[in-house]
Amino acid sequence: MTNDVARYDRVQIILHWLIAAIIFLMIGLGLFMVELPKQSELPPGEESVRAFYFLLHKSMGLTVAMLIILRVFWRLTHKAPALPDSIEKWQQRAAGVVHGLLYLVMVAMPLSGYAQSMFSKYDTKFWGITLPRIAEADSAMRETFTELHECLAFLFIALIVIHLAAAIKHHMAGTGISERMSLKR
Ligand code: HEM
Ligand code: HEM
Repeated sequence: MTNDVARYDRVQIILHWLIAAIIFLMIGLGLFMVELPKQSELPPGEESVRAFYFLLHKSMGLTVAMLIILRVFWRLTHKAPALPDSIEKWQQRAAGVVHGLLYLVMVAMPLSGYAQSMFSKYDTKFWGITLPRIAEADSAMRETFTELHECLAFLFIALIVIHLAAAIKHHMAGTGISERMSLKR
């Protein structure tokens, strides 16, 4: 029953898992680095590692943004395989809404992060290369986008939990849905 389920194409499957892995790392890194002490909060002689992790987060975030652009482009030009009729209509609609929101937040996360970085007084670097400034430092704007980035992060976590719970439920019920995102034939 599960072998004949229609699957996503290889590009969509590879991008799904690659992006998911980086997003898990990004969320972990983001939550970890904001708790690190600033240089001004440390005793003299101790060096803060906060800037190192912030730069890593920004570079990884801009890298995953490129993969996300590629994925959205691929998805707009390649349809999702039709779900089997055995899946109730309301569940098909719910999956569509959650997937749509996941795409929206996937795009909004790097955008809000990049905006808050542009409005901060620090340079935005991409793996060591300083990116040109497209906005003057503005602490009110930086604060707004930092809060937006944080709210979106918590919305993202909630959506991923729902998505993961649905994937586990389908896997355990043997509906074949989890095979749709699997490279194993
Ligand atoms: C999919 C991509 C991204 C994810 C999942 C992500 C996730 C997160 C998370 C979970 C936090 C911690 C939020 C908090 O508790 O305050 C955070 C903070 C932050 N992110 Fe991202 N982020 C992404 C992309 C980016 C990008 C592209 C940049 C900049 C170029 C960026 C810059 C920042 C900065 C500077 C902070 C610290 C904000 C502060 O000072 O409190 N992020 N991010
Ligand atoms: C950051 C984490 C993740 C994100 C952002 C994400 C995002 C998405 C999106 C947007 C889709 C819809 C694909 C489309 O129609 O274009 C999808 C499908 C899917 N995802 Fe994820 N995903 C994540 C993690 C996971 C995990 C951890 C699992 C399983 C353990 C999983 C299993 C699946 C499956 C089975 C489908 C196919 C659903 C169907 O056939 O309709 N995903 N994912």
